[in-house]
Amino acid sequence: MTAPRVEVQPDPGTLATAVAGELLSRLADAQAAGNDPHIALTGGGIAEAVHRELARLSPESGVDWSRVVVWWGDERFVARDSADRNAKGARAAFLDAVGATQVHEMPSTDDAVDVDAAATAYSAAVREHGAGEFEVVMLGLGPDGHVASLFPGHPALDDAGIAVGVSGSPKPPPERISLTFAALNRARSVWFLVSGEQKATAVAAALAAEGDLHDIPARGVTGAEETIWFLDHDAASSI
Ligand code: 6PG
Repeated sequence: MTAPRVEVQPDPGTLATAVAGELLSRLADAQAAGNDPHIALTGGGIAEAVHRELARLSPESGVDWSRVVVWWGDERFVARDSADRNAKGARAAFLDAVGATQVHEMPSTDDAVDVDAAATAYSAAVREHGAGEFEVVMLGLGPDGHVASLFPGHPALDDAGIAVGVSGSPKPPPERISLTFAALNRARSVWFLVSGEQKATAVAAALAAEGDLHDIPARGVTGAEETIWFLDHDAASSI
């Protein structure tokens, strides 16, 4: 397993541009090699900034988004049209604009009776339409070290399935669906996207030589080929 690579940009704007540019380059390379790459998106502020940059940069990239298969690492279990939905934000920010057509949203409260049924349905979708691995999994990082909707001390951390229902999330809204560590680790590349001073301690704990993924869930995800920490200056201030 290769050591994580750390790339530091001066500010959130250049961080978002760098990540979007790198993703478009990876997708173009994968398609040039004849593959239809599968990626997993994440929620949160810096991810939204990356999505906006993807919309801006994609037209010149040569990426055919109809040949990119889009998944989520996590989603809030709310109504389909709720502003809290990661998928709603991603569609508005770039997926609809770039012409993505293979988009697998996690179920909303309009689609599933409860969060566990939603997780079961998404696990089935990944088994049926997944490629066995993601080209890139993108993850934000919480100040408590959470990634996707895998929170410190939560039983979902030990779930061995593909997707898991999460209730009692310390980050609202309380009910979510998350890919498990087992699923997130089926990735050639894992990219952590982290901005802001309030994440600096979590970044340092995630990259420390020792630590427990139950305390810092970010420690539980690594790419099969590479793990990259895309940070801005403030998020990198404790390493
Ligand atoms: C979610 C996210 C979550 C997020 C982190 C960082 O649905 O809430 O997937 O894991 O990525 O909490 O969010 P910020 O970048 O907004 O701090």
